[in-house]
Amino acid sequence: MMNTRVIDLPHHVGHQLTVRGWVTHFRSSGKIHFIVVRDGTGVVQCVYKHDQVQEPLATETAVTINGEVRKDVRSPLGVEIAVRHLEIIGESPDYPITPKEHGTDFLMAHRHLWVRSPRQSAILRIRAAIIRRARGFLDEHGFTVADPPIITPAAAEGSTTLFGIDYFGEPAFLSQSGQLYMEALAMALGKVYSFGPTFRAEKSKTRRHLTEFWMLEPEMAFVEFEESLRWQEQLLESIVSGALEDCAPDLLVLGRDLSPLERVKAPFPRITYDEALARLATLNLPVEWGEDLGAPHETALAEQFDRPVFVTHYPTALKAFYMQPDPHRPEVVLAADLLAPEGYGEIVGGSQRIHDPELLQQRLQQHRLPDVVYSWYLDLRRYGSVPHSGFGMGLERVVAWVAGLEHVRETTPFARTLNRVWP
Ligand code: 4AD
Ligand code: MG
Repeated sequence: MMNTRVIDLPHHVGHQLTVRGWVTHFRSSGKIHFIVVRDGTGVVQCVYKHDQVQEPLATETAVTINGEVRKDVRSPLGVEIAVRHLEIIGESPDYPITPKEHGTDFLMAHRHLWVRSPRQSAILRIRAAIIRRARGFLDEHGFTVADPPIITPAAAEGSTTLFGIDYFGEPAFLSQSGQLYMEALAMALGKVYSFGPTFRAEKSKTRRHLTEFWMLEPEMAFVEFEESLRWQEQLLESIVSGALEDCAPDLLVLGRDLSPLERVKAPFPRITYDEALARLATLNLPVEWGEDLGAPHETALAEQFDRPVFVTHYPTALKAFYMQPDPHRPEVVLAADLLAPEGYGEIVGGSQRIHDPELLQQRLQQHRLPDVVYSWYLDLRRYGSVPHSGFGMGLERVVAWVAGLEHVRETTPFARTLNRVWP
C-alpha cells in the first residue's frame, strides 16, 4: 500500500491508511501504547491498543503503521492514528542522541544522526525554502541559471584563501566564487545567476565562517551599481517573505521572533563607508579610514536600522581587484556589503565591475595577478565590453539569520569548518 505523508493526514480523517517513519517517543499505559512517529514532513501520535507490545519501541526504530486517522484537537497536527497494524522495519538499539543535553562537539560528530532531530530538520526545511524562493525570484525576473566551474585555474577573491588541488600534475584550485565566469556568461545571456558550492581556506573560527558554503551569484550586463542594489533588496525581501509564508511551523519550532523578519521590506537604507565611520565614532568604536569593518562594527551599525542596511563606497584598497572605482572619487569603489540585522553581519557582497580594459590591466598588476592567467577575463573587456554588476549572497548566513541561529554550522547538512571534515 502507498504511504501517506504525515503532513497530509488532516485531509484524511476517517480513512484507513499507511504511514512510514521513525519512532521519536514511546510510552505505555497498560495495554495502550502511544507511539510518536515522524516521517520528515511532520509528527503524529499513533495509539496502539495491543497486549503484545512488551518491549518499548526504541527511539529511531523505523516502522510502518497502518490505521485509521482520527480527529484529535489536543495534538498540534489535529489528528492521530488509531493503529491496526504495526510492523518494525529497522531496529534502533541504543540510539546515541538522547533527550539529555549533548555538547556541540558530540552533536557535530553525530551529525549524520543529529539531522533527524526536530530543530535540525526544521532548519534544513527553511534552507530548502530559501533556495526555492531565491531561485524562483530570479527565474521569474528573467535571469538564466548558468553554472561556473568548481575547479579553477586562479583566484576570484584573494589568493590567501585558495584550496589547492593537484590537477593531473598541474596546480588548480577549488572555486572561491563563480563571479569571473558569471561575467562571461552575462555577456552571452544578459542576466544570469549561479548557485553552487564555493570554498575558502579561511583560518577563521567565527560563527559566520565555513570553508565550504553555497553562494547565489547573479550577474547583470548593462546594470550599474544603484540598480544592482535594487535587485539585491528585492531578492532579499522576496526570500524572507517567502520563508515566513512557507516555514511558519518550522520557525515556531526554532522559537524565532518573527517581527524583525516581517520588517524586511525594500528599499533598504544605504550608508557610505564614510558615514559608517562617523556613526561608529559616536558609538565609541572608532575605525581609521582605510581599515575594514569587523564583526562588532557591523553589528553596531546594523542595530541602528530596523531592516538590512547597505554599506557602500568602501576604500578601493580594501576590496577585490575587479571592482569599479567611483568615477568622481577613485579612492572608493562602487561596491556594497549588505548587513543583516541582529548581529548577523554581511550576508551579501557585490559591486559594479571594471569594464575598461586598461584600468582592469592596471588593477591586475597592482594586485600582482598574472595577465596570462586572466587573459580570458580581459577578453571580456576587449570584445563588446559594457558596464555590469553582480553580487554574491552567502546562503548559510542568510539561513542563520532567518532561522535565528547562533552559528552557521547548523545551516548546512554537513558543515565544513576549520577543524571538522567529518562525518
Ligand atoms: O563578499 P564575498 O567574498 O564576495 C564574492 O565572493 C564576490 N565574488 C561575489 C560576487 O560579487 N559574485 O562573498 C559573498 C558572500 C558574503 O557576503 C557572505 O555572505 C558569504 O558569501 N561568505 C561566506 N559564508 C560562509 N562562510 C564563509 N567563509 C564566507 N565567505 C563569504
Ligand atoms: Mg565580502
